[in-house]
Amino acid sequence: MKIQLLLLIHFSMLVSVHCSSGNEYDMLDRFLKLKRLKRLEMDHASNKDITDEYSYSPVYVGPQDGLKDADKISELPGQPDGTDFDQYSGYVTVDPDHGKALFYYLTESPINSSTNPLLLWLNGGPGCSSMAGAMTELGPFKVNADERTLSRNIYAWNNVSNILFLESPPGVGFSYSNTSSDYVTGDAKTAKDSFTFLVNWLERFPEYKPRDFYIAGQSYAGHYIPQLSKLILQNNENGNQTRINLKGIAMGNAYVDGETQYIAKYDYLQAHAIISDEIHKGIFSNCIQEAYHASLCEYYLKQVEAAKSNIFIYDIYAPLCVPGKNGTPPARFDPCSGNYMNRYLNTPAVQKSLHVKEMVWKSCSDLLDWKDMPLTVLPVIKDLLASGISVWFYSGDTDARIPVTSTRYAIKKLKPSVKTQWYPWMYQDEVGGYAVGYESNQLVFVTIRGAGHSVPSYQPGRAHAFITSFLKGELP
Ligand SMILES: *[C@@H]1O[C@H](CO)[C@@H](O)[C@H](O)[C@H]1NC(C)=O
Ligand SMILES: *[C@@H]1O[C@H](CO)[C@@H](O)[C@H](O)[C@H]1NC(C)=O
Ligand SMILES: *[C@@H]1O[C@H](CO)[C@@H](O)[C@H](O)[C@H]1NC(C)=O
Ligand SMILES: *[C@@H]1O[C@H](CO)[C@@H](O)[C@H](O)[C@H]1NC(C)=O
Repeated sequence: MKIQLLLLIHFSMLVSVHCSSGNEYDMLDRFLKLKRLKRLEMDHASNKDITDEYSYSPVYVGPQDGLKDADKISELPGQPDGTDFDQYSGYVTVDPDHGKALFYYLTESPINSSTNPLLLWLNGGPGCSSMAGAMTELGPFKVNADERTLSRNIYAWNNVSNILFLESPPGVGFSYSNTSSDYVTGDAKTAKDSFTFLVNWLERFPEYKPRDFYIAGQSYAGHYIPQLSKLILQNNENGNQTRINLKGIAMGNAYVDGETQYIAKYDYLQAHAIISDEIHKGIFSNCIQEAYHASLCEYYLKQVEAAKSNIFIYDIYAPLCVPGKNGTPPARFDPCSGNYMNRYLNTPAVQKSLHVKEMVWKSCSDLLDWKDMPLTVLPVIKDLLASGISVWFYSGDTDARIPVTSTRYAIKKLKPSVKTQWYPWMYQDEVGGYAVGYESNQLVFVTIRGAGHSVPSYQPGRAHAFITSFLKGELP
């Protein structure tokens, strides 16, 4: 496949959090494609081994005394009565010379907080905020349709782990830098900043230093998580900085491999009756084969767009958000939830309670100029497997953006040997999805039936069952 085309596809993958309508995504996709294609071509033309980037170097560690107490959230506006767990949030400076600070939100467990593991959560993008994960997916609260009050999420993941939501890199959500050149960034800088954040955060919350540590996230976090994990493991080995007790990672509908993603997407659209056999064939014989025909390829890509129409590609069976038409309780998921979150997080009283400076919060950043992004992180994932940590992929099976086929094709490239054969896993007497274990079940693939891209938003019960299994290290 022509490198240009691969890159085009590569950049059309981005953007992951749940916003209000399909159109916003498509516009951003197009923008990213055009804007970034040219600039990144050089970086990836050779698809050079990205693993050289991870060498040990000590990071900045600032004084943290007293900051934990200052970060304690007394109460979020509109929070329901009877909240029985502690929450903290604030900034951690990762570069004092630049005035660069990352925002975090920690939700501890109501019971057994002191023994439950620490789970770092990352939304994707690149450039999307993990507060979207906190407020519309797996966090303890969801914003109600009144945009002012919160209700308890009974499927919140903080009853099995203490969850650290991190907005990274600076320029995302409440995270910022006083030096605008820091917004020219990419995968490598993001991993380093996130690592520096963790080392400093553990000084602020030293009780978490020896705790079992996991990282989970979705979409473009399929790039963030392996690269950050690799940096952690290298520093554990070589450094004299805080050792981080990384046990495993879980990546949902994750973008890990640019090459298979392309084929996977069109296979999925065909098998889910969105595109015709003719379009599928047209794409494969004009866009993918050695003989690349630019104008025919373009023609078929347009046909794909037309066929998708206004389907929300991140959950092909989801209803659309129609603003102003509320009052109809959604069957399983409120497609307007992104709007409620947006209004809530931009309320001055909410920002004050979160200890952030008053600012416009956006679920995905438009400040960032993304410079590096490896076409595949499979080599990094291989290294992680060699280091012994658990690597789990999960996948909502109604997402067409980074569909189940994408993850399956990527795993296939690793050529792992099957340990536990593909089987249906059960949740409340129904099939929750399917699971397969590879390589002594160190590498696991789990589908979540009926879930879109942001899995816990669509299938909260099944998602909770999944994360519980992951943290126990037992297949569901
Ligand atoms: C950024 O600049 C503001 C205004 O000077 C200052 O209050 C803030 O502490 C700076 N941020 C960091 C992380 O140093
Ligand atoms: C808390 O930990 C204790 C001791 O490990 C265990 O028996 C109990 O089931 C745990 N409770 C919850 C709600 O996790
Ligand atoms: C956590 O919440 C889930 C979903 O409500 C529930 O099924 C589970 O029993 C809870 N687990 C613990 C340890 O409290
Ligand atoms: C270990 O830390 C000390 C003090 O911070 C530093 O001087 C030294 O260079 C570090 N060692 C390595 C191998 O980086």
